[in-house]
Amino acid sequence: MKVLQTPVDIASLARLILNPDCRSIAILTGAGVSVASGIPDFRSPGGMYATLRPELLTATPQQRKWMAMDPTYVVSWDVFQSNAFPYLEVRRPFILGTQQQTWKATIAHRFAELLHAKTSKLTRVYTQNIDGLDRQCTAIPCDRIVSVHGSIAQVACEGCGADMDLEEFCQKVRTNIKDIYEPSNGPAESTPIQCSKCGQALVKPKTVLFGRNLPKEFFERSGEDMPNLDLLIVAGTSLVVSPANSLVYQVPESTIRVVVNAEPVGEELGVDYESGPAGRDFFAQGDCDSVFLDLIQELGWLDDLKAQNDLLPPKSQKLLAGTT
Ligand code: OAD
Repeated sequence: MKVLQTPVDIASLARLILNPDCRSIAILTGAGVSVASGIPDFRSPGGMYATLRPELLTATPQQRKWMAMDPTYVVSWDVFQSNAFPYLEVRRPFILGTQQQTWKATIAHRFAELLHAKTSKLTRVYTQNIDGLDRQCTAIPCDRIVSVHGSIAQVACEGCGADMDLEEFCQKVRTNIKDIYEPSNGPAESTPIQCSKCGQALVKPKTVLFGRNLPKEFFERSGEDMPNLDLLIVAGTSLVVSPANSLVYQVPESTIRVVVNAEPVGEELGVDYESGPAGRDFFAQGDCDSVFLDLIQELGWLDDLKAQNDLLPPKSQKLLAGTT
């Protein structure tokens, strides 16, 4: 039975978060929370899948055809196990940008950190993002963050599991992998990056490819967390990828669900945008950083966010500068 009130606006969401009966809060994030840092999402018109150009990738005609039909093939085990180049070529700027710490945690990421620091109610951040921005929020204990789809900053061989040092890997990416976006930045043709242990050309960041298993931490933590959750905040995700999206229906009927996103998502998973306060779902439609900034303001944590101004990306700083 639902004991807590479903919020109807940002002010009532803030009250819910501060309500002593709301004890356990988890956040499920997707690419939308990192957009303000300059990393495009996947499925929006300017996103990685919509802008994918299979004809530029080192691939067979058949692989290009698959990727044209379904762009997720570029990050699939099906393709990678026989040809690592499409993945490495499409991910080259992201791999090298991560090594150079190009991107900064946004207001949406900082909200999670403030939630932990101010209330101790943050049970877990489940991030589908591989950009590591959640881990820039160092006040959140490492074990409170589950990187559901792995991380771009750790490297291993998909064949034998041997780790490779990030610096060494990035050096090889620079010299061996062509840059499909800025060809003058890299070699004219891609050549394999081999595992120093098993010799297979299957070395890549430890991210989850379609067709591969999620880290067991995801299943263990969600199994523990979801039954006891009072509030699930879903932010910046299309909720189309399983099993990450299953958190939405793993929670009990009494758990309030809040979706912060540019557009409604998850209706096919049972999220109900129609019932309002009679139901248990609240849609905070809008830009993630703007919504979380409003929420931080309502919670009375604006000065704490302002103290972190220099750690924010320029777009988030600009938004914050507009507050009084
Ligand atoms: P998507 O690109 O599928 O969805 C991002 C969602 O965020 C969309 O609904 C956008 O409308 C919304 N959005 C974008 N920018 C926003 C902003 N500034 N404010 C509010 N909303 C915004 O990305 P994910 O849901 O994260 O997995 O994708 C899930 C998984 O699919 C990824 O982890 C990745 C991908 O394939 C693997 O590679 C295994």
